Amino acid sequence: MKPYIFITRKLPEETILELTEKFDVKMWEQEDFPAQREVLLAEAKKASGIITMLSDKVDEELLSAGENLKVIANLAVGFDNIDLKAATERGIIVTNTPDVLTETTADLTFALLMATARRIVEAADYIKAGKWEGWSPYLLAGHDVYGKTIGIVGMGKIGEAVARRAKGFGMEILYHNRSRKPEAEKETGAVYRSFEDLVSTADYVVSLAPLTDETRHLFTADVFAKMKKSAIFINAGRGPVVDEQALYHALQKKEIAAAGLDVFEKEPIPTNHPLLELPNVTAIPHIGSASTDTRTAMIKLCCTNVKAVLTGDSPKSIVNN
Ligand code: DGY
Repeated sequence: MKPYIFITRKLPEETILELTEKFDVKMWEQEDFPAQREVLLAEAKKASGIITMLSDKVDEELLSAGENLKVIANLAVGFDNIDLKAATERGIIVTNTPDVLTETTADLTFALLMATARRIVEAADYIKAGKWEGWSPYLLAGHDVYGKTIGIVGMGKIGEAVARRAKGFGMEILYHNRSRKPEAEKETGAVYRSFEDLVSTADYVVSLAPLTDETRHLFTADVFAKMKKSAIFINAGRGPVVDEQALYHALQKKEIAAAGLDVFEKEPIPTNHPLLELPNVTAIPHIGSASTDTRTAMIKLCCTNVKAVLTGDSPKSIVNN
């Protein structure tokens, strides 16, 4: 009998050929909605491999649902949705999708920074709502990017790619990370700073930090209070790294100027969330790596990883070795 693989969303058939040629593969029939928990548990009971999305909770219960499970391939570079310890204890390999999404996610992060600084979404809404009655000197005037200081919190590969873009825009670059990045410092002129220093100096504070026990609610009311009044906060990493209530109050009280958010504490963010009512918030629905080419490359990498594990080879990107 062929090993059984479950994929938790509907993906284009042509992107998973590497698996369908060799294994018994089933996909959840919806592209836009996740499978219910009971479905996931029932499938995990039978599966040798599962391709999961960052919105699927892969916990001890799911990991121990069946006897056959050997690999979880997460369609994301982040893997905070997975109980890594429980997987490792059970000998289940967990893989992610680094590298293939680096430049695309950096593009989006920089686009969000630009859009927030120059009020692009607000301006587009303004013209479509028929509000444009004539040119005026400060109409929708935003913030400069050129010559300003960007502070990148979380200098992984995506952070470094954002730094390269910032260099092209003539920005000064500060970063904070668990470890120093000499290569990036040489390439982009990025300067290492303590977290406190960075948040109080940067004009653009950009969070690309992964979600861990150390980074949960890293951005608190105190941190926002330390930022410049003209600061713009961008989050394209993980939502729970930010205390959203604190962010809301900082924006409302004009302790900081604006925020651009691709990620949220709860996704999807409820439509009545107070952050969405603020004009100085540019909010987009977790689309960091969402170009067609990159999402296809991510799916293919998941397939390659699953196939490798189930045929006794080493996967390309393992996170619990
Ligand atoms: C990831 O891969 O972790 C990103 O958040 C997806 O856009």
